[in-house]
Amino acid sequence: MSLSDNNYKHWKIEQDETSIVWLHLDMAESKVNLLAGAVIEELDSILDELAKDLPQGVIILSDKQDSFIFGADIKEFTTLENDEQAQAFLDRGHALMNKLEALSCPTVSMIHGICLGGGTELALACRYRVLSDEKCSRIGLPEIKLGIHPGYGGTERSIRRCGPLAAMNIMLTGSALPARAAKKIGLVDEIVPLRQLRHAAKWFVMAAPKPKRPGLIPRLANSRWLRPVVASQMKKQVNRKAKREHYPAPYSLIDLWKNYASNPVRMLKEESKTVARLATTDTARNLVRVFFLQEKLKGNGKLVKYQPEHVHVIGGGVMGGDIASWCSIQGYSVTVQDQNPERLAKTYKHAQDSFKKKFKRDRRAIVAANDRLMMDHKGYGISKADIIIEAIFEDAEVKRNLYKDIEPRMKPDAILATNTSSIMLEDLSSSLKNPGRLVGLHFFNPVALMPLIEIIRGTETDESVLQKTAAFALNIGKLPLPVKSSPGFLVNRILMPYLLEAVTMVNEGIPAEVIDKAATDFGMPMGPIELADTVGLDICKNVALILSQALGMPLPDNLERIVEAGNLGKKSGSGFYKYKKGKAVKNKKARYKDTQAVQDRLVMRLLNEAMACLREGIVENDDMVDAGVIFGTGFAPFRGGPVHHIRSEGTEKLVKRINELEKLLGDRFKPDDQWNNLGPST
Ligand code: NAI
Repeated sequence: MSLSDNNYKHWKIEQDETSIVWLHLDMAESKVNLLAGAVIEELDSILDELAKDLPQGVIILSDKQDSFIFGADIKEFTTLENDEQAQAFLDRGHALMNKLEALSCPTVSMIHGICLGGGTELALACRYRVLSDEKCSRIGLPEIKLGIHPGYGGTERSIRRCGPLAAMNIMLTGSALPARAAKKIGLVDEIVPLRQLRHAAKWFVMAAPKPKRPGLIPRLANSRWLRPVVASQMKKQVNRKAKREHYPAPYSLIDLWKNYASNPVRMLKEESKTVARLATTDTARNLVRVFFLQEKLKGNGKLVKYQPEHVHVIGGGVMGGDIASWCSIQGYSVTVQDQNPERLAKTYKHAQDSFKKKFKRDRRAIVAANDRLMMDHKGYGISKADIIIEAIFEDAEVKRNLYKDIEPRMKPDAILATNTSSIMLEDLSSSLKNPGRLVGLHFFNPVALMPLIEIIRGTETDESVLQKTAAFALNIGKLPLPVKSSPGFLVNRILMPYLLEAVTMVNEGIPAEVIDKAATDFGMPMGPIELADTVGLDICKNVALILSQALGMPLPDNLERIVEAGNLGKKSGSGFYKYKKGKAVKNKKARYKDTQAVQDRLVMRLLNEAMACLREGIVENDDMVDAGVIFGTGFAPFRGGPVHHIRSEGTEKLVKRINELEKLLGDRFKPDDQWNNLGPST
């Protein structure tokens, strides 16, 4: 294929009167641009043609709406079976980027909207990068979230452009930067309003300024003497969040920089070797799985289009207040009602804090969020609302009375969503004339941080109400998981036996610190005892009581005692731990003879309950169990979810262990029937 044919499937070539070549990427049959094999191949041949007959300059741009390139095609990534295949995959990308960088005319990436991973690496291989300063513009290198690091030359080139500290920071966190931050660290050369973007890109070709370099201080950190010291500090920081044995990629990235930063050519070579190794590790495979699980959850919210204009929240307490401010942050017009006007004053104050936290110094955004949120003691918003979210006391009778009272004032097609954490929808809907409009919208605490929402389907819930509610959850930036109305729904039900086992072990005299460490060693973000203290022991006790009544889960008596003594956890300054300045005071010397047994007891209870939920069809399939537990509890993402973990470890081995625990500790370890019926993965 030659350039003059202009007959490419994914690229459109335009040459203007100043002999600048504009390369438009518009990946065929895809909503977004990806650096898939076919896209790379075509660009490779275009670059060959361009090198033969150099234009004035080359500008790469996207024809997709609000996005440049989302990165490599992760689906291709999953087909890599071994290091050699991975190496060939990376070599192809490296060759392309080197070719682009070697073009001797000015090259510019003209970016508007999202630019991630391989897209950013391609931009870095250009001589210049201009970015629109629109809200939707974000640029970053998120590969670390998939268990690898940049592998198309992005490590060396980002360090060359931004200096090691800024570049390592974006690669290690995987965060995507908004325009101003990207300009500040030198990841892009210029940011301009969208209407001036073409002009700016052209200016770079015509003026061909000397490419910017990072300042002296950032470059100093790259010196041979300083690198080992800085690298060891970086590793310490990473270790606080991710252990090497669970997440090797950040450590490999730091080593790559430490060992090869003085030799860019070698660094590029070594980069592809490490990524080839990392790409086929279990961690990377499982993190890619988590990525696709997340996409599946998003898919639950895309079955219908639903854009309510007004949201009314009833109950301005811990959850209702946060839900109201979160919806307002997400652009909805919200009224929030509480029976207690003083409570609403607190809700208002709390919302101000949330807006400041979210929008930082963006005064305009804070004012706008404020304008969208109204305190509404009398509940005038009920008649205007398209969706009403109820977050009042966890008492079925009180909730039923409220529904009876408000239904006549609701719009005929308005949805009534309850945030109940434990009451069955069937127990609530009886006071409604139209029970089909009632759905569960179970947020997790803290609302701003937890990505999952359970969408609870009662036996009477209308299918369209369910789909609209899931679409609403996605609209407010959350991942919707449809769940059957059943005690504890999915997440609390699976989490609770694990928490209760931890509390039982404390009762037996095993130090809380040992129990928490056993869990974090497994890969949990926080130990169960600290988690229980953080959630609030009174809340834990209530959920545990409901589950114990419904499912016969045994309750350890120390939980009751500690709550009765007024030790409610972090919020009261003491629970299982004492708290100083909001931090648990832990005894670093705490030891126990058999930490493996502690870990097994915790994990097996969780896995066994996951199996029970699968058998009972609490969610659609095992992927949804895994997704719910990962995004609802933080369950070790590198293990790919509880059901996936069971498959990876082998049911036989785990059943043997649970049988041993049953003999030793009794019925609560009785293996669920599902262990014997675990079919192939979904
Ligand atoms: P909360 O006690 O902090 O707030 C409840 C608020 O509702 C209070 O401000 C109260 O004045 C108000 N209220 C009670 N009855 C009312 C009525 N008839 N009309 C208007 N306002 C009324 O409770 P929280 O923790 O916010 O829980 C609310 C709901 O969310 C419960 O159903 C709970 O199970 C659920 N939930 C709680 C979670 C948590 O971590 N706290 C997590 C997920 C769900």
